[in-house]
Amino acid sequence: NVLILDFGSQYTQLIARRVRELNIYSEIKPYNKLPEDLSDYKAVILSGSPSSVRSEQAPHPDLSDIKGKKPLLGICYGAQYLSHFHGGNVAPSATREYGRANLSYVNSEDDFLQDIGEGSQVWMSHSDTIKELPEGAIRLASTHDVENAAYKIDGEATYGIQFHPEVYHTTDGTKLLENFLVNIAGLEQDWTPDAFVETTVEELKEEIGDEKVILGLSGGVDSSVAAMLLHKAIGDHLHCIFVNNGLLRKNEFESVLDQYKHMGLNVKGVDASARFLDALKGESDPEGKRKIIGRVFIEVFDDESHKVENAKWLAQGTIYPDRIESVSASGGPSAVIKSHHNVGGLPDYMKLKVVEPLKMLFKDEVRRVGASMEMSPEILGRHPFPGPGLGIRILGDITPEKVAILQEVDAIFVDGLKKWGLYDKVWQAGAMLLPVDSVGVMGDERTYEKCVALRAVESTDGMTADWVNLPYEFLQKTSNDIINKVKGVNRVVYDISSKPPATIEWE
Ligand code: XMP
Repeated sequence: NVLILDFGSQYTQLIARRVRELNIYSEIKPYNKLPEDLSDYKAVILSGSPSSVRSEQAPHPDLSDIKGKKPLLGICYGAQYLSHFHGGNVAPSATREYGRANLSYVNSEDDFLQDIGEGSQVWMSHSDTIKELPEGAIRLASTHDVENAAYKIDGEATYGIQFHPEVYHTTDGTKLLENFLVNIAGLEQDWTPDAFVETTVEELKEEIGDEKVILGLSGGVDSSVAAMLLHKAIGDHLHCIFVNNGLLRKNEFESVLDQYKHMGLNVKGVDASARFLDALKGESDPEGKRKIIGRVFIEVFDDESHKVENAKWLAQGTIYPDRIESVSASGGPSAVIKSHHNVGGLPDYMKLKVVEPLKMLFKDEVRRVGASMEMSPEILGRHPFPGPGLGIRILGDITPEKVAILQEVDAIFVDGLKKWGLYDKVWQAGAMLLPVDSVGVMGDERTYEKCVALRAVESTDGMTADWVNLPYEFLQKTSNDIINKVKGVNRVVYDISSKPPATIEWE
């Protein structure tokens, strides 16, 4: 187990992911919440930070239980911090150093830089630099502009590097982390999806015993993988509820329900379309619609869960990025929990204990765990789809007719992406029904009908996104199909806006 101490760097999560790609488990903690019991951690990594070590407000945690006692790697700010307080000198660099650099000197005698040669590309992002190394330090690498790009403290397993091994552009970054964690810290590379499934299933059995668990399935990857793990642990004591809010994709309710049943899940499909659409009547404000859909969902779910007698647990598909406590942007001591759509949705009248089998996994790990349980690629590769569904893709008020039109348009678009082999190249895609009527000529007649917008984006986490350059031939065929097949639509446009500023959903 590796402890990553977060000083507020934008790259901290990437460090954790790189470590886990080496099949070594890692956890992130804010620098001001150092765990009291460090015995589980075999190595510690200090992240970068937007602060300068020379500032009084900068993070200055007490590392006396770590430094010299456990293998320790400081990255960027972390390396500067280890220098600054141990006899080194950190000062502003003459030029701020951002981006590409190459190692011009490498001390290959030390295990740390094994198999990493001179010329290797590294990625810098700092404005302070280590002018003098701390006491007892040995320089291990330099670049043209940064003399002390890597160092170690003699006689300790303490290392510092000025560049960022966690970013893609540091070519040998993963190798360097492997050298530190495996060769120096002696960690085993045994954190694999299979091992995760095995230990999690055992833990769930232990924790839940023969009590009953309720889980809301959404059709998405997270809730499906969470359900599968629980199913392996407790079988039919897991009661899954899959609600049709009337705003799902075309045929999604039936086909997903079918897939869940094939997986052996004890799942009940609840068609509450009418209840949702009724409650939404006349509401055109995006947040208003979200609130109604959220409220009705809780009502329906609550009704259904009361039908499961003596349920004691509520399972949720919460994943690690939803829960990581982050250091506030100012670098100050306050730690905030990121808010997320899926966190905190539990009404307190549902007095159930919460179980979250995926709470330590990143999204890509959830997929790998699902694959190791032989879940279908169709479920594991499904695009994200918002909880309020088509409700926030119909701009303005929602009617059953508009839902039906948008379901047809969306199905043509998404099926087309699959047929053309484009689906897996896109992170998320969908169609928006615009509150715009425009003129068309169809045959000899003038029509005044709806306009739809198609959106397909590339992203890693939905926080930033760019539109996908879909082939013209595909767009041409899709537009034709939509206009010819969907009554009420006479115009199709493609959204070529990036996020920021344009959010993925139009509402
Ligand atoms: P935006 O539109 O904010 O979307 O760029 C980012 C990601 O979040 C999804 N999204 C939602 N998911 N409830 C959800 O569960 C919501 O209200 C909601 N709004 C947006 C969106 O589909 C995208 O993946």
